Parts: sequence; structure tokens; C-alpha cells
Amino acid sequence: MDIKGTVAVITGAAGGIGRALALELAKRKAAGLALVDHSDTVHQVAKAVNELVGSAIAHGYTGDVTDEGFRKSVFEDMASKHNRVNICVPAAGITRDSLAVKIDKATNQVVIYPIETFRQVMEINLVAPVYWALEMVAGIARMRAEKGLKRWEPTEPLEGAVIFIGSVSSLGNRGQVAYAATKAGLEGAAATLMMEAVYHGIRCAVIHPGYTDTPMVRAMGEKLIAEQIIPRTQLRRLIQPEEIADAICFMISNAAVSGSLWADAGWHPSA
Ligand SMILES: NC(=O)c1ccc[n+]([C@@H]2O[C@H](COP(=O)([O-])OP(=O)(O)OC[C@H]3O[C@@H](n4cnc5c(N)ncnc54)[C@H](O)[C@@H]3O)[C@@H](O)[C@H]2O)c1
Repeated sequence: MDIKGTVAVITGAAGGIGRALALELAKRKAAGLALVDHSDTVHQVAKAVNELVGSAIAHGYTGDVTDEGFRKSVFEDMASKHNRVNICVPAAGITRDSLAVKIDKATNQVVIYPIETFRQVMEINLVAPVYWALEMVAGIARMRAEKGLKRWEPTEPLEGAVIFIGSVSSLGNRGQVAYAATKAGLEGAAATLMMEAVYHGIRCAVIHPGYTDTPMVRAMGEKLIAEQIIPRTQLRRLIQPEEIADAICFMISNAAVSGSLWADAGWHPSA
């Protein structure tokens, strides 16, 4: 699938991976980009993209990815500007790390990971990405139905692609009971969508990045990065967001790629 001329929605586009992907898709001549984030910085990313390509292809949208009305409004606005959206990379995500069951050092009380925090991580990292993807699939399904097209056939060009952002934590990571569950959950969603959405000519896959140099990882602190992450990464460095963006573009453009791609710089967690 040629990235040239595609129209993409990227959530979390003010963040490290989303921003790098926006710039990479623009370099590969995407025709339109919806850059979505609850941070106003997303407008600066859109400006940087537009300056890079010398034309107003990127549009910033500020809002919460869990807000259904906001999600629909972004797709409607993009449809009015570019007729369609055919790439969706829902990258907005959060970490809320704490042991699943821990003993509070101050009080000696046993504390269970708060259920409301678990639900918040689920809403942002699992439910929202799936629904942003479904919104795109629905748009393409509607467009095909209006043209009288039925099941997509291999003789037709592909219509689109969804790439979810998983994580090496999907295999389990101490302190990430909620985050790991959401990232593993995306595997099931991607595998199911790969079966269902291909009816409309849409592929779906999931990338599992290792520790990438973005605000999310820097927030963990330099000490933790140096002591816990770098020694367990074969490349002995953080991955650059541009490397993940390049891998996502490979997944979009190479139609034989399905399932999951591990871009983890050789991550080997301890026992
Ligand atoms: N950085 C890593 O090492 C790493 C590794 C594996 C997977 N990931 C995943 O990659 C994706 C991007 O992460 P990143 O490293 O670029 O992080 P980041 O913190 O730099 O970016 C995440 C962005 O998501 C936005 N966001 C969070 N909640 C939102 C909400 N409710 N509505 C709208 N926007 C919201 C934030 O404002 C932020 O700009 C995430 O899904 C993350 O889980 C990151």
C-alpha cells in the first residue's frame, strides 16, 4: 500500500511516537493528517509538518480520545476536508504504574491497585484505540456501500490500514498490571479486526515498541532508565521515536505484514 496520497488519523500526536510518525508520513507524501491529542502542543506539531512539506496537510485537533463526540467530529471534519481517512494509528496512551498488590511502607497495610485507575488505563489504552480504528473502518465500509461494492477482492487496491501501538509490556512487566493488560488486549483486537475489516479491504496489525525516548519514558526518571532499562536492552540505548515511525510506515506499506512486529532493540526483562 503506497503511503503517498493516504489520509491518516494519529492520536497522541503531541507525544514522542505520534509526532515522529506525523513527520514521517508527511515525508512519504501523505495527503492529509489528523493530529489528535489533549495537549495543545499538537497544533505546533501540525505547524511543523506543514512547514516541512510546504502545504497545509496536517490539522491539529485537541480533545480527549475517550470522548465519542470528539472522535466522530474529527472523522467528520477530515471527511469534509479530504473525502476519507484510510490510515489509523491510535497512539495516545498513558502509564499508571504501581504493583498489583503492595505493602505500604509507611502504614504496613496491604494495598490493591486501584480499580478506578485500572479502568482509566483501559479506557485510554484499549477501548479508545479500538474505537478510533472502528470509526475509520466504518467510514470506509460506508463509502464502499455507497459505491455498491461488496466484499473486497484481491484484484482491487487495498482501502486502508490500522496499526495499534502495543508494547513489550504486553508480555508482562512488574508494576504495569493495567498497562500490560491493555497492550496485550490490543493483540486480540488487531487479530479480530484483521479477519473482519479485510471484508472492506482494510488490514490491521500491532507494533510492540521497546523503551523509546519519549516524554512517557523520560518521566520514569534517569536513574530507572540507567539501572533497569538500558542494561536489559541489547542495543544498550533507548529506541528513537523515528525508528518506531519508520517501522510503522513499513507495516502500512508492506501488505504482507500482519499480526505483530516487535521493535524492541533486544529487550530482555529480568525474572
Ligand atoms: N515510549 C515507549 O517506550 C513506548 C513503548 C511501547 C509502547 N508505547 C506506546 O506508544 C504510544 C505513544 O507513546 P509515547 O511514548 O509517544 O508517549 P507520550 O507520552 O510522549 O505520548 C502520548 C500522548 O498521548 C496523549 N494522550 C494521553 N491520554 C490522552 C487522552 N485521553 N486523550 C488525548 N490524548 C491523550 C498525551 O497528551 C501524549 O501527547 C502509547 O500508546 C504508548 O503506550 C510507548
